[in-house]
Amino acid sequence: VKNPFRIGKRIYFRPVEREDAGVLQPWFNDPEVTRTLRAWRPYNLAQETETLEKLTKDESSIVLAIALRADDRLIGTVGLTHIDHRNGNAEFGIAVGDRKSQNKGYGTEATRLILDFAFATLNLHRVRLCVYANNPRGLHVYEKVGFVKEGVLRQETYRESRYWDVIVMGILRSEWERRK
Ligand SMILES: CC(C)(COP(=O)(O)OP(=O)(O)OC[C@H]1O[C@@H](n2cnc3c(N)ncnc32)[C@H](O)[C@@H]1OP(=O)(O)O)[C@@H](O)C(=O)NCCC(=O)NCCS
Repeated sequence: VKNPFRIGKRIYFRPVEREDAGVLQPWFNDPEVTRTLRAWRPYNLAQETETLEKLTKDESSIVLAIALRADDRLIGTVGLTHIDHRNGNAEFGIAVGDRKSQNKGYGTEATRLILDFAFATLNLHRVRLCVYANNPRGLHVYEKVGFVKEGVLRQETYRESRYWDVIVMGILRSEWERRK
């Protein structure tokens, strides 16, 4: 592991470096990846680098690189944004951008690991997320780790020639503790 911030079983988190921009950039141009993400514009290297720099400076966001313990390969990013310490909440986001690394359990492990960090270190009270209805895999993973469906924004997003619902999910600290 190199510069680990949190270490899991098969993955670890480390800070995102400016030099990672070249690895991240193709993910956020890949329609197979962005079909379930907010990102949709073409991203050049300069924009990707600028986005990373903005995120680093933003004190209400923590974005981390997901790397494999086996070979240190960068496979995705995970983070908490809109961290609100007064109300004790934040929004979770994840992208296992390396498609060959999807469906191998890494996303599940990363989600659990960042929730540990959110509750045990940041002392948050709840974490929420938004998932698009065209992402049954994401929905499955989030339910598996304990997120609960809290609401539906009907036909909120347009992709692949149609509107899709956006599902709002959340997990409370007490629910997280009960599962441990
Ligand atoms: C969504 C995402 C984070 C999941 O991470 P992952 O590493 O691919 O997923 P995992 O391997 O940990 O888990 C996948 C689970 O979904 C299940 N699954 C896979 N495809 C599915 C489908 N079409 N419908 C329902 N479940 C599905 C798998 O069987 C597995 O469940 P199991 O562990 O109970 O067997 C990842 O695929 C990703 O980043 N996708 C692109 C960007 C994205 O959608 N980000 C999230 C936006 S909210």
